[in-house]
Amino acid sequence: MAIAAKRVLIVGCGYVGTALGRRLAGEGHAVIGLRRSPPDPTAVDDSGIQPWIGDLTRRDSLDSLPGPFDWVINTVSSSRGGPAEYRAVYRDGMRHLLDWMRAHPPSAFAYTSSTSVYGQTSGDWVDESSPTIPSTETGEILLEAERLILDAAAAGTVPGRILRVAGIYGPGRGHLLRQFLRGEARIHGTGARWINMIHRDDAAGALIAALARGRPGELYNAVDDEPVSQLEFLTWLSERLQRPLPPVASEEELATRKRGLTHKRVRNQKLRSETGWNPSYPTFREGYAAELKR
Ligand SMILES: NC(=O)c1ccc[n+]([C@@H]2O[C@H](COP(=O)([O-])OP(=O)(O)OC[C@H]3O[C@@H](n4cnc5c(N)ncnc54)[C@H](OP(=O)(O)O)[C@@H]3O)[C@@H](O)[C@H]2O)c1
Repeated sequence: MAIAAKRVLIVGCGYVGTALGRRLAGEGHAVIGLRRSPPDPTAVDDSGIQPWIGDLTRRDSLDSLPGPFDWVINTVSSSRGGPAEYRAVYRDGMRHLLDWMRAHPPSAFAYTSSTSVYGQTSGDWVDESSPTIPSTETGEILLEAERLILDAAAAGTVPGRILRVAGIYGPGRGHLLRQFLRGEARIHGTGARWINMIHRDDAAGALIAALARGRPGELYNAVDDEPVSQLEFLTWLSERLQRPLPPVASEEELATRKRGLTHKRVRNQKLRSETGWNPSYPTFREGYAAELKR
């Protein structure tokens, strides 16, 4: 069903934000995309998004925004920084945006948190009611940002919904695929660890579904239908690309690997049933088959 034309603000208009904005602009909505860096004057921008320069870590940077907006979306990312950057961008930035929205209330607000707030290492399924005990400090900071939204929704000031997004891949993005192609992929132990993923365009679709049909103050996991073990994923890539299966990681390689790795399967049932979201790439197979054809 078509959505009536809206004024939309996307804060942190990067990989997912641009895909979302392009889609909304294509459907006739007026979209402003805020980010720190100015557009590249040599690049062709056919996205239909009006660029807006601002820095979410500075409250006064939002003052000149041409609000109000019907929908506001926060897809800002600290670009893999450490705890200090996370605090500035996710927690303090969220405070600034919520403060600005209290004076310019949208009809719906959505934020892309992360499935990293689930620290489970048991391999079990997790849903939105599962405990959130992140295994990293940065995961804790994302939870702090979530709490700010939940408090504002409970107070009836900003109708925010939170998407807990799994590992994003898609055109030009795909850390695991690139690692495999460079010959740097390694099987960790038996390769049993679960990987949870979502295609960029399905993340954008999940945001639209949550804004249009989700409920304020609610959390939704945004992940495809099928968690995949590391071994199954690498085996699939090996077969598709007709390359050998990567070797098992050595003790040294395991010692240097990222701390705080979790082992869990994330369920998307709530997002599907409450908002009608239906991913175009239900598993990594459809999504990566599209990437391998490029
Ligand atoms: N990537 C994943 O696998 C993953 C997984 C779970 C959740 N998420 C979440 O999903 C969302 C979208 O991720 P993404 O991959 O699309 O991120 P992205 O491509 O890194 O884009 C983030 C955008 O935020 C902007 N930005 C950074 N700091 C800013 C600031 N202080 N003020 C204003 N804009 C700022 C960046 O613009 P400039 O370049 O101009 O600074 C960039 O346009 C993020 O909230 C991320 O935390 C991502």
